[in-house]
Amino acid sequence: MMLIRVVASAVVLLFVTVDSTARPSVINPENWPQVESPVRRDPAIEKRVTELLARMTLEEKIGQVIQPSIINVTPADVKNYHLGSILNGGGGWPGDVRKATPADWLNLADAFFDASMDHADGGVAIPVIWGSDAVHGHSNIVGATLFPQNIGLGATRNPALLRRIGEVTAVEMRTTGIDWDFSPVVAVARDDRWGRTYESYSEDPELVRELARKMVEGLQGPPRAKGFLGGDRVIAAAKHFLGDGGTEEGKDQGDNLSSEAALRDIHAAGYIGALQAGVQSIMVSLSSWRGEKMHGQKTLLTDILKKRLGFDGILVGDWNGHGQVSGCSNASCAKAFNAGIDIFMVPEDWKALYDNTLAQVRSGEIPQKRLDDAVRRILRVKMRAGLFEAGKPSARPLGGQFARIGTREHRDVARQAVRESIVLLKNNNATLPIAGGKHVLVTGDGADNIGKQSGGWTLTWQGDGNTNADFPGGTSIWAGIRSAIESAGGRATLSADGSFTEKPDVAVIVFGESPYAEFQGDRKTIVYEGEDDLALLRRLRKAGIPTVSLFLSGRPMWVNPFLNESDAFVAAWLPGTEGDGVADVLVGDGEGKPRHDFRGKLAFSWPKLATQVVLNHGQTKYDPLFPFGFGLTYKDAKTLAALPVDTGGVQLSRPGILFSGGVVAPWKLAASGAVTMKTVDTDVQEGGRSVDWTGAGEVTIRNEQPVDLTRESNDDLSLVIDLMMRKAPAAPVLLNGVDITSMLRVLPLGEWKTVSVRLRCFEGFEGAGTKMSRVRVPVRLATSGQLGLTFSRVRFARTAQTGCPGS
Ligand code: BGC
Ligand code: BGC
Repeated sequence: MMLIRVVASAVVLLFVTVDSTARPSVINPENWPQVESPVRRDPAIEKRVTELLARMTLEEKIGQVIQPSIINVTPADVKNYHLGSILNGGGGWPGDVRKATPADWLNLADAFFDASMDHADGGVAIPVIWGSDAVHGHSNIVGATLFPQNIGLGATRNPALLRRIGEVTAVEMRTTGIDWDFSPVVAVARDDRWGRTYESYSEDPELVRELARKMVEGLQGPPRAKGFLGGDRVIAAAKHFLGDGGTEEGKDQGDNLSSEAALRDIHAAGYIGALQAGVQSIMVSLSSWRGEKMHGQKTLLTDILKKRLGFDGILVGDWNGHGQVSGCSNASCAKAFNAGIDIFMVPEDWKALYDNTLAQVRSGEIPQKRLDDAVRRILRVKMRAGLFEAGKPSARPLGGQFARIGTREHRDVARQAVRESIVLLKNNNATLPIAGGKHVLVTGDGADNIGKQSGGWTLTWQGDGNTNADFPGGTSIWAGIRSAIESAGGRATLSADGSFTEKPDVAVIVFGESPYAEFQGDRKTIVYEGEDDLALLRRLRKAGIPTVSLFLSGRPMWVNPFLNESDAFVAAWLPGTEGDGVADVLVGDGEGKPRHDFRGKLAFSWPKLATQVVLNHGQTKYDPLFPFGFGLTYKDAKTLAALPVDTGGVQLSRPGILFSGGVVAPWKLAASGAVTMKTVDTDVQEGGRSVDWTGAGEVTIRNEQPVDLTRESNDDLSLVIDLMMRKAPAAPVLLNGVDITSMLRVLPLGEWKTVSVRLRCFEGFEGAGTKMSRVRVPVRLATSGQLGLTFSRVRFARTAQTGCPGS
């Protein structure tokens, strides 16, 4: 007893010292606004829910609150466990097939639905709902219309257009049988290092509030009108509650240290807008507020959101977010449920979570009342959406009408959005518009690359690995420019490396960030580091060619050197599949008169210094290069003078790539023992290393300073190596201590293959033990006999891998 007391007071003391400068983390509901939902409580629905609840078994209720991923659940599971919802994550496709057709999606939706309604045994039949991240159009579906990412939509400042985009997205979703959209993101991104900045409409709460409201209205339909949640609409999910856009250093899933007032006035704004439109679901953030994960923050989830803000829909957790609450695991978390989460998003470990949640209700750890409240909310929303009467997805109004996906009409909406989203930052000597009759050279790695112009959450989670062929009906920026130029009698040439035989009148260089999602887009700096792009710009300028830079990015970035080398500079964000919207504005008519003027206005402040990572209008000492709201038009004749190019000592960032054509800083590559390592050509010049073992030896990738890989490991990334076997292993081969001999033995000699092992399979990294937070040697490949292989890329990435080698 004594001892416990002493320890406890020591803890308190420690806490007090650490926290003495911080403001108290107290939330007072009375400081928060009240929102009256336009969706009235319907007594008939409430009565029906009450009746159903009375008939449901405890198991049936638990099933409603468990949401697995389609990759880890079968229709039979949905029936047997009475599951109420399922999801597909980014890169979760029906049958795990990347090119699944719309019919595959619909068939699977039917199969899940039928299973949920199959209760001939007398159980209660409740239609299952399927949630998907259609965050910029129905973005997991080949052939869908993909809109500019939210950062571009923010720059349009056109609420009516957002409503229309919501409508189109809902229609395309419904054809494939999906009824729940995990959208819109209503984060107010305040630190541009955050990898999800592009999913945010703006740094400005008011703009986010207004656009969130319209997007929800478009997705769900106008509340209080007949078509609300009708057959051409989906249930929307505003996400991620609360404060995801305000974490320290812009870390994804990080800690937001805002005061209560900042939470309310900045980060909650989008929820107010969404609630004013009657949003029926809200997703909880994977971030923390003042050291405690949002998934466990009862005051914010229940007292504020559900009570004060009057939210009576579904509060869904995010991907294993409950597992991050202290004292919890992916398989067990009464605390998150008691805090107010109605549905656990539990992609993989759902059976164990089901059993544990059931046991927790039986033991009283989760009050029966709390469970009934969650199930009531779920059933209420399903009833409001008419799902009990709707029939199976293919039999619903748009079910199977695949011709409605990617129609001209839909693409025109997206094209308009592209036109209105791009922002003109510099136009010296009236370089733009380009007269239609000119000879234009189009270059840069983004010029003819629909994947790059679309960003993350595009067919794959990270938006990587796509080619133009994956976007039937889509148009690259190059294709749009060519057709605009040619139809005005001019000539356009595409050149991958910027070379030309005949000197063009003007060059358009399309470059910028490559796609990323979530933390993989987190950066230490906002410096755009494209050395090759800068060299290309310089070469063209040296040849006396006026340069137009089209910058693709998910955030404002420090690009002073690029601005200096550009006569005109356009922030094009991530425009999506309708690249011709860019040419609509850039390319004038035959006489050089604009066909469309620029309308885009910055929804994010643009940095003047490499150090301005947190730059938001309204802050003290606000000194951007281009302020919030900036955007030139063709009527402006402003000249931008040369800018300083000093980065102010900013350290460049660490990507998830360790080796790609060469070792990536800060990592170092080394071989020791009976090993020879040589540089060899692969597809890129000197792209790989050939390694030959004649006896005991190893190859390592290491760093002097330990690197934190917790986030990578939480997200279940794998260590992925592209390699070619030349000589099969003679002795066991260990990768970070894990035996991968049998993985290597099956690889054909002389062919490039990919080998991957989930990070969580490694029992420990050298110098780190089991702690992923201090890894010095993430790669150690060792054997004691003959082995010959060549590798070209080593990285952390998501793969389809499930188990661990040898298990
Ligand atoms: C993301 C959510 C998304 C969910 C399902 C999470 O990792 O944070 O935005 O809806 O995954 O894909
Ligand atoms: C999902 C993301 C999720 C991630 C976590 C992806 O497949 O789509 O939503 O955050 O996996 O590992």
